[in-house]
Amino acid sequence: MLSSQRDQFEMPRDICYLNAASYSPLPRKTLEAGRAAVGRKGQPWTLPGGFANQVHERARAAAARLINAEAADVALISSVAYGVATAAKLLAIPRGARVLVLENDHCSPVLEWQVRSQPQGFAVETVSQPEDGDWTSAVLAAIERPGAPPLALASISSVHWSDGGLIDIEQVGAALKKQGAMFLIDATHHVGVLTLDVKRLDPDFVIFPTYKWVLGPYGRAFLYVARRHQDGIPLEQAAPGRRNVNAENNVYFADSRYLPDARRFDMGERDHFISMEMAAIGMEMMAEWGSAAIVQRLHMLTGRIADGVQDTGAQVAEARFRAPHILSLGFPDGMPAGLIEGLAGEGIFVAPRLGRMRISPHVYNDEEDVERLVAALSKRLKM
Ligand SMILES: Cc1ncc(COP(=O)(O)O)c(C=O)c1O
Repeated sequence: MLSSQRDQFEMPRDICYLNAASYSPLPRKTLEAGRAAVGRKGQPWTLPGGFANQVHERARAAAARLINAEAADVALISSVAYGVATAAKLLAIPRGARVLVLENDHCSPVLEWQVRSQPQGFAVETVSQPEDGDWTSAVLAAIERPGAPPLALASISSVHWSDGGLIDIEQVGAALKKQGAMFLIDATHHVGVLTLDVKRLDPDFVIFPTYKWVLGPYGRAFLYVARRHQDGIPLEQAAPGRRNVNAENNVYFADSRYLPDARRFDMGERDHFISMEMAAIGMEMMAEWGSAAIVQRLHMLTGRIADGVQDTGAQVAEARFRAPHILSLGFPDGMPAGLIEGLAGEGIFVAPRLGRMRISPHVYNDEEDVERLVAALSKRLKM
């Protein structure tokens, strides 16, 4: 099992930060690189030739490695919503078809389809949050619903952001293929911690940002595009997506055909060297630690919390239905007022999400953090 990586972060001992699913802290290495990068922007004449390309390709390769993709199949984008908008521009959802989304999924994989549903004549079907926490069965039942209109696409998170429910993407992917439907995975709470192998799974799109589980900054995200969709028109029309539109040429629009791979979907102004390099570092660290070791550690921490709160009245989903790194506590009479704020006052940071308490440890958390949370919860919930 991976040992606690707390000393790689600027995290005082009295801080018990259990909120990676909102935003992770940055590793020391990333902070240092970010400071140096800001300095470089202050003195742009120090940028070596070829620097831009090196930075883009480093980040692209780091993202690709986490999902076993080729770098050429990954685009540099700014947010999950940007990736979903790109996918929506590429796909022609047939009139009368269905697009599946999850109840209370994060808005980014949902809203784009809601906006397009009426003008394009397809239905957005919402899979209800299952009482028993078994999202996979609920999604499979929706995919296979007898008599339903044809299914064009599932646009879903693979780990539900609010309740930490884990969706078995292998089973869902296979069921979608059987129906001839496409699969867009919002892998925000998945990539880096859990494995995702695009070569085996063959999804249509996988999207993830860097500011949560892969320990990066805001504003950087990645879009895997299956090769069968790489001949479409990008969201933005910008030089990076074209073969040779270059200010340094004698002829500016020397070759304005699109690039032949997913690089054509790169966002405009991707030369954000500061955060692009910072994003690469977090992803590289996650790959070095490896999913198996990270999962073991986070599973151990969330398991201890689940065991520790057993007699407090808080409700926890069955272990087989929840992700190893997110624990969501329900409260039969609703979350007690002031609980989250009270914990924060003690230096314990968790998130309120749709009436539940979301606890999301990362590699910097240790047994001491968990014991502190359990003790504080036991005291406050039994009061
Ligand atoms: C499941 C999920 N998807 C996406 C996002 C972020 O989306 P965007 O990058 O479009 O802001 C979040 C942020 O909380 C999330 O939890």
